[in-house]
Amino acid sequence: MKYQHGLVMGGTGMLSAAAVALARQSTQLTLVARTDLSLQRLAAQVARPELVSYQLRLDWSNRALFIDGIHQHLAQVGMPDVMLCWLHEDDCLLDLALGIPPLPAPMRVIHVRSSAISAPGQRVDPVKAYCVARPDLAYQQVVLGFKLSGDTSRWLTHQEICQGVLTALDHPDKACLTVGVTTPWERRP
Ligand SMILES: NC(=O)c1ccc[n+]([C@@H]2O[C@H](COP(=O)([O-])OP(=O)(O)OC[C@H]3O[C@@H](n4cnc5c(N)ncnc54)[C@H](OP(=O)(O)O)[C@@H]3O)[C@@H](O)[C@H]2O)c1
Repeated sequence: MKYQHGLVMGGTGMLSAAAVALARQSTQLTLVARTDLSLQRLAAQVARPELVSYQLRLDWSNRALFIDGIHQHLAQVGMPDVMLCWLHEDDCLLDLALGIPPLPAPMRVIHVRSSAISAPGQRVDPVKAYCVARPDLAYQQVVLGFKLSGDTSRWLTHQEICQGVLTALDHPDKACLTVGVTTPWERRP
């Protein structure tokens, strides 16, 4: 297997297909989401006899419990070597990363972000600054943009989003991958 332990946060919705693909390459998988229903649905999709899988029902609107729940789980089952994160609040990943002790081998961190990160005037990116500065985190961003078509524009399909995530996963050298475009900003749907 390519990965020993994949940790997927917020992966039960639009990222489901990417989570399934990651699961196929992993010995162990932890899924984190808010509801049992979405976790069970994705767990059923990824299930195979030799996959050790865990589902953590945690709500990031209670940040302290969310972070604590993940760290407690990792203390029991071991650190992941790849994380796929779609968290509506970027600070949440920063808080999580701050609590990760120095690692003996780099952990892949695929951080999926909304186009808001590319909005004109957006310059400060604390989570990226922190993760990039840590030699034991191999941090990559996947920015979700939009598609232009003639005079119109549209948001991305789930398939396009997952394809972008999987491209990032297959290309550790791509520090930032934009799916679709984020300019011209005023053309976003
Ligand atoms: N640029 C683009 O084109 C773009 C960018 C972003 C989103 N979108 C579109 O917008 C739709 C909605 O996006 P979305 O992010 O709301 O949905 P989503 O990706 O379909 O699902 C959100 C994920 O985060 C989890 N989650 C949500 N709130 C949580 C919380 N408080 N605590 C812990 N986990 C939580 C969900 O788990 P539960 O289901 O268990 O709550 C789920 O796993 C997407 O389906 C996509 O079509 C498009």
